[in-house]
Amino acid sequence: MNKEKEFMQELEQADFHNKYEAACRLIVDRLERINTEISGEKGRKYIKDIEYRVKTPESCLNKMKKKGYALKIDIAKDKLNDIAGVRAVCYFLDDVYQLADLMIGNHDFEFVKLKDYVKKPKSSGYQSVHVIVKVPIEDEFVKVEIQLRTRAMDFWADIEHHFIYKTKEVGMEVFEQEFLKCSKSIQKIDKQMLKIRKKLEAAGVQAYSM
Ligand code: GTP
Ligand code: MG
Repeated sequence: MNKEKEFMQELEQADFHNKYEAACRLIVDRLERINTEISGEKGRKYIKDIEYRVKTPESCLNKMKKKGYALKIDIAKDKLNDIAGVRAVCYFLDDVYQLADLMIGNHDFEFVKLKDYVKKPKSSGYQSVHVIVKVPIEDEFVKVEIQLRTRAMDFWADIEHHFIYKTKEVGMEVFEQEFLKCSKSIQKIDKQMLKIRKKLEAAGVQAYSM
């Protein structure tokens, strides 16, 4: 059997998928608990949305090929940070960083890496804070990429993902520039929204069923 077929068969095993699914659920469960607790403390909704997905075998294969890695399951587990991917979308910038700190400081997970694309956005304009952790599932430590962002960043990334990031079209430079411009506006808006919230808090104005 050729290497690619053998590799795909391993990725398609239910056991492989189930481990990554369990890892995602563990993080989602933790985020939900944090959300209940901190929303209560703050008197406003802390996390707006939590979602997750397990990368498909095809997508794992393509990424391994693109990155030039040998098609081995252990190499995929080690090198691909995002086989298990969880995303939490907050309203405000400071909440994103507070949540990142809570994920980094959580002793139930092993902290692997922080990628701060808010402090330093990608050349596309992409912004998010990524925390990569390992969580214990059965006999293994399984990697999970946790993407943390504001609703404004999510709005941008969602649209850009569909039209630019996943497409390989040529001649898209004009549109890429447009997206970059929007990303800069979003950076300003996130800062302004945080300022407004702080002023409202200082004035003693409570959030009404947010
Ligand atoms: P991928 O092969 O895309 O997973 O990148 P990587 O493993 O080299 O890591 P990186 O930190 O660049 O990206 C991780 C994830 O962030 C991606 O899978 C996307 O979900 C998201 N991302 C990164 N760059 C962009 C971007 O320019 N636009 C959008 N929409 N999402 C991005
Ligand atoms: Mg990815």
